[in-house]
Amino acid sequence: MSYPESRPRRLRRTPAIRRLVSETRVDPAELVVPMFVKEGLTEPRAIRSLPGVLQHSRDSLRKAAAEAVQAGVGGIMLFGVPEHRDPTGSGGIDPNGILNVAIRDVVAEVGDDTVVMSDLCLDEFTSHGHCGLLTPSGDVDNDATLEAYAEMAVAQADAGVHMVGPSGMMDGQVGVVRRALDAAGHQDVTVLAYAVKYASAFFGPFREAVESALEGDRRSYQQDPANVRESLREVALDVAEGADLVMVKPALPYLDVVSAVRAAVDVPVAAYQVSGEYAMVEAAAANGWIDRERVMLETLTSIKRAGAQVILTYWAVEAAQLLRERY
Ligand code: PBG
Repeated sequence: MSYPESRPRRLRRTPAIRRLVSETRVDPAELVVPMFVKEGLTEPRAIRSLPGVLQHSRDSLRKAAAEAVQAGVGGIMLFGVPEHRDPTGSGGIDPNGILNVAIRDVVAEVGDDTVVMSDLCLDEFTSHGHCGLLTPSGDVDNDATLEAYAEMAVAQADAGVHMVGPSGMMDGQVGVVRRALDAAGHQDVTVLAYAVKYASAFFGPFREAVESALEGDRRSYQQDPANVRESLREVALDVAEGADLVMVKPALPYLDVVSAVRAAVDVPVAAYQVSGEYAMVEAAAANGWIDRERVMLETLTSIKRAGAQVILTYWAVEAAQLLRERY
């Protein structure tokens, strides 16, 4: 009988040893919580497919933002749900549109205590639900959409946002947004580029959260799940155009992409654990099939281990609280 001389199990023996040699720790300061605010609501409303996530009223959003700061999260990503939509998504640009109003509310509430971010995309505001303007034949018009994004970026910056998140996957969007911000005197507003965004079925519950009007799909502008090299090209373009951070989305089914992007660039890399990833775990946990908290933290640890330094997750506030108890 021969025994192994190298015994990795020695480093797993006690909680203290495991803690000492742990390679990856998720820090609450790296978690960003997405929040939805709906125009005209007086009370927050539940979202059926995202248990525990709310469509906020303006008031409840302010309170939730303050609680998120209290929990120590690194940022808040805002999404607006308008009462009325039109083909050009004008509510996204209007300074009195719900998202711009919500930015002002949240900035007034939390100041610089966390990073206030906003989704920079037209899909919540268009009557057809696409991320951009349509040509007469119904295609998404890249360059006309860029002009709208430029205006939207300036409106969000005027409202006081710290970081804009262009997420519509139009070619050239980062450069156009950067130039528009600079020209309007907003050189200090940061661009978190949704550089890599797949045409993913994992966005399903989000569509309910924002009451998306989309019929059809986004495959002519979001990426094919089969591709990884394409992501490196997207990231290189966004960095060249002035992206301060780059994001990969979804997260868990694309950890290889997170890792490849991390190796390719030296700007901070973010990953978005999207609505379907969250819903899947919540649904299994509600059935008693998995341990909700352990799975939650395991997914976040895995996303960080793959190379994401910033993680957007609907669990951000709860995870931040759990992690603070733990360390
Ligand atoms: C676009 C946007 C989407 C998500 C974030 N920003 C929807 C889409 O691209 O189809 C999805 C986020 C999620 O599923 O949690 N405004």
